[in-house]
Amino acid sequence: SRSVKLAVIAGDGIGPEVVAEALKVLDAVTAPEPVDFELTHFSLGATRFLETGDVLTDEDLAAISAHDAILLGAVGGVPGDPRLKNANIERGLLLKLRFSLDHYVNLRPSVLFPGVPSPLGAPGEVDFVVVREGTEGPYVGNGGTIRQGTPQEVANEVSVNTAFGVERVVRYAFEAAENRPRKRLTLVHKTNVLVFSGGLWQRIVTEVAAEYPDVTVDYLHVDAATIFLVTNPSRFDVIVTDNLFGDILTDLAAAISGGIGLAASGNINPEGRFPSMFEPVHGSAPDIAGRQLADPTAAILSVALLLNHLGLADASARVSAAVTADIIARSVAAEPRSTGAVGDAIVTRLTDTPA
Ligand code: NAD
Ligand code: IPM
Ligand code: MN
Repeated sequence: SRSVKLAVIAGDGIGPEVVAEALKVLDAVTAPEPVDFELTHFSLGATRFLETGDVLTDEDLAAISAHDAILLGAVGGVPGDPRLKNANIERGLLLKLRFSLDHYVNLRPSVLFPGVPSPLGAPGEVDFVVVREGTEGPYVGNGGTIRQGTPQEVANEVSVNTAFGVERVVRYAFEAAENRPRKRLTLVHKTNVLVFSGGLWQRIVTEVAAEYPDVTVDYLHVDAATIFLVTNPSRFDVIVTDNLFGDILTDLAAAISGGIGLAASGNINPEGRFPSMFEPVHGSAPDIAGRQLADPTAAILSVALLLNHLGLADASARVSAAVTADIIARSVAAEPRSTGAVGDAIVTRLTDTPA
């Protein structure tokens, strides 16, 4: 049988709690499949930093790179913890992984499952995917500050957009749109103000569009996109956007489609030169950590994305179906359930439904 080497980074806060449930589900869904997952657990995040002073060593990165895929819970300590002031876990660990492993597609689907309450009331069908660029934009750390701490301080943070980097993610988004029933792609940017980067994104979308005559393309400024996400989310199918706009839009997208506890993501290197990394959109949620209060669904749906990426489409669909059934069941149940109880309920559905 096929063997898959999976690196697991449970991380901090609710990370280990939701990853434990995701791994239960992975185990259950792959039991009948001719595939063996070999797991390596990496202790990384704020907890590791506080113990050893390390954020991500070269050895860690090399060891992780030697895997077929990565499952990550969440990393990061309590915001403002003075002991973490110089750690910069987000840049030194999460973004370092995304950049080093060339995760140029940050794939963030947003689906409002039937029966799930949305703060929008009844918004109609919500089923879109944000293709967020993952290796460029304002995230690259191209900046600096002068006269720091003085009233004359000037802090620059320059967004980097290369034709190469924009074109590859735009092509991925067109492929995704072409393979979806509605075949619609929306570029979201801020071309009226960010004329250089916006101009590049717009030019490349227009050029690539010529190769995809079946895909309907439109454009929204990012501020207007937030209006339509709230007033008419059904208008979206595939959104392609830069790293920072994509970060902000996907928290909003999560909120309208059932909440941050349901939002899954994949950091993908489509060519497979490096392992792709799957993780919930949410963070380590220190406010609820350690109490079995976190919803593990986002982590479990990240497993579905992982399985799909590995070519195990049936197993992926079974996880999604079990999650959908669980979400429908929970919307009629009165009692809130613990993190473990949600995982167990989804495992039960999987094992009760033959493959
Ligand atoms: P957060 O996503 O951790 O929490 C925001 C709110 O959502 C909190 O009220 C939290 O309780 C709630 N929430 C999050 N996940 C939930 C779940 N599964 N079930 C129920 N409720 C949930 O965002 P934050 O508070 O801004 O960040 C906390 C830490 O996590 C910071 O250190 C931040 O940098 C880090 N972070 C990490 C990642 C990641 O690892 N990918 C992503 C975002 C934030
Ligand atoms: C996310 C997070 C990260 C991001 C942070 C923690 C670096 O918010 O995965 O959405 O901004 O990409
Ligand atoms: Mn975010």
